[in-house]
Amino acid sequence: MITKVNHIGIAVKDLDAAVKTLKDVFGLEAAGTQEVESQKVKVAFVPLGDTRIELLQPTSEDSAVAKFLVSRGEGMHHIALETDDVAGDLKKAEEGGARLIDKEPRPGAHGTMVGFVHPKSTFGVLLELVEETGKHSS
Ligand code: CO
Repeated sequence: MITKVNHIGIAVKDLDAAVKTLKDVFGLEAAGTQEVESQKVKVAFVPLGDTRIELLQPTSEDSAVAKFLVSRGEGMHHIALETDDVAGDLKKAEEGGARLIDKEPRPGAHGTMVGFVHPKSTFGVLLELVEETGKHSS
């Protein structure tokens, strides 16, 4: 079941500069950075009440985020919805007619399992389904 917005993803060219900007402009502190190999990105999570901002910088030119930056520039990249069953909700989305990027969950940041739904199915907004598995590594 999907219960809330887990985070909002913003694609950036320079992660360190973006972290510094959020701190300088809004006083928001990032909770460390991490590389997510399965998505070829470096991410920084900025906790914000019950949710977080996820800043994403590509680590490879063939990263989906690198392609996004080329075609759209920096900006909002995805919204992540929290679920207790990412595999089940991916299946449900597909049965409901959505086009999936991930048919099966894959590892996300901080010990989560994630799956993406294609923005063509969801009003131009890339949706990430994320399941907290309780195996937080940082
Ligand atoms: Co995300």
